[in-house]
Amino acid sequence: MKKKRLPLILGAVISVALIVSIFVVYNYKNKQVSNASDEEQQQQTAEPTKKDSPAKEEPKKTADNPVKPEQKTDANGYVPNQTLPTEPTYIKGILLANKIYPLPSTFAPEENPEARQALNKMFAAAKQQGFDLVAFSGYRSFDYQTTLYNNYAKRDGQAAADRYSARPGYSEHQTGLAFDIGERGKDKLWLTEEFGETPAGQWLFTHAQDYGFILRFPKNKEDITGYMYESWHYRYVGVDIAKDIKKQNITLEEYLGVK
Ligand code: DAL
Ligand code: ZN
Repeated sequence: MKKKRLPLILGAVISVALIVSIFVVYNYKNKQVSNASDEEQQQQTAEPTKKDSPAKEEPKKTADNPVKPEQKTDANGYVPNQTLPTEPTYIKGILLANKIYPLPSTFAPEENPEARQALNKMFAAAKQQGFDLVAFSGYRSFDYQTTLYNNYAKRDGQAAADRYSARPGYSEHQTGLAFDIGERGKDKLWLTEEFGETPAGQWLFTHAQDYGFILRFPKNKEDITGYMYESWHYRYVGVDIAKDIKKQNITLEEYLGVK
């Protein structure tokens, strides 16, 4: 009888031991899986917090919207030690040239034919009203602007010249889209504020946008445009944009969101 029971007891003991060890191993594995998913959850909650921080947000940069780091400008409005770029800057499809966004020295598009055509149309309309307008300065090469600016700086000093003449590479005249306008035969009023007060200057100021032009350096906007009021300097941007800028009474810098 005893001899018969021994294998039975042994079998029972082994079975219990097996069941216990399977239970222990199963529990241990489960604990490991649950620990790992706790860590994952912590990471997922930590990540959005990091992304929410505005300081960590990357500026959106597209080919048509170059985001520049904040630029520190000197007393004359220029970025110290800035070198000229290899490509011109287009924002919202508009070619920009100012004291912060210069042009390559090699940029030489000549006069823009579309701008000239619009200018002719505007001059013809002005003539119908009895105003004989003329563009006494248009496209300027990099080299010509160099000569002009150097002469002005020599005559008036750099600080004074920087308020009305662009340094080489920084002039809108180099884009082929800007024109200095006056009345034919009234040369004495060319390049004067007074031109803006004349009936011809007033007609131009009131109607330029209908032909795609904007007065580029308006009164009291020197802190934005970088230049004192120029009653004679008009820039072609196309009719829709010119009308929008006029309606909002803003500068090109404001329209493009760079000021
Ligand atoms: N007079 C304007 C600022 C120029 O020189 O381009
Ligand atoms: Zn000009």
